[in-house]
Amino acid sequence: MNRAESDKKSVIAIDGPAAAGKSTVAAKVAGMLGATYINTGNMYRAITLAATTRGTPLESPSEKDVEDILRNTSLEYTSSGGSDKILLNGEDVTRKIRAPEVAASVSRIAAIPAVRKWLVDRQRDIASRARLAVMEGRDIGTVVFPDAKWKFFLTASPEVRARRRLEQSGETIEGSTVASVAREIAERDRMDMSRKVSPLTKAADAILVDSSEMTIDQVLDRIVGAVKGDIVPNDLLKKQSRTL
Ligand code: CDP
Repeated sequence: MNRAESDKKSVIAIDGPAAAGKSTVAAKVAGMLGATYINTGNMYRAITLAATTRGTPLESPSEKDVEDILRNTSLEYTSSGGSDKILLNGEDVTRKIRAPEVAASVSRIAAIPAVRKWLVDRQRDIASRARLAVMEGRDIGTVVFPDAKWKFFLTASPEVRARRRLEQSGETIEGSTVASVAREIAERDRMDMSRKVSPLTKAADAILVDSSEMTIDQVLDRIVGAVKGDIVPNDLLKKQSRTL
């Protein structure tokens, strides 16, 4: 490994659009490699829930609204063995943040620069304390850790993504159809890709994984195979498995 390679962060970045299967895959990759799993989408969801709870106008929150939310919010993120837990002002909101109402507003809150800065600082801090971190999101390989050692961009066709989201209980409203969920997902992708700060885009050096016709195991083989076979220094992996 040359010097430039060894200077890179021990982070596996998994970015991609909504409902592409990032959470399932990232959690399993973390479990397989004994790495810390960090779901950054859950953090944006938690801030969105905080805004909803405070009655902030989600269509057009003012700078002051946002400052108030961040000043009055304590966010505690913990992760072990491939699953994470998020406490918002001391309350466990891990389930609540997956609600369709939160999903409907999260992209507007995530477009606010102050929110992103607040969360990205925390994300870097959590990752810097991990020996190896699997981080999933929209901007991990481009903005949060542009020097991540491994970068993947996980995607799937809109229809496949809508079907997968429908199968996740509690994440869509009663009476949802593949077509209605596909529309919601497409709208969120549009907002995430077109925002000014840290838009969703594939890092030039990320490996593209289109999972439309792949099973979870095939996706895992592809990612873990690339990480292990390609560049993970063996001694790092040995250390990881000792900590399991
Ligand atoms: O699970 P799903 O794919 O539906 O989305 P998520 O990963 O929970 O992310 C929810 C939303 O948070 C995204 O649609 C983005 O608006 C925002 N997000 C972001 O802006 N940057 C990240 N690194 C992660 C999520």
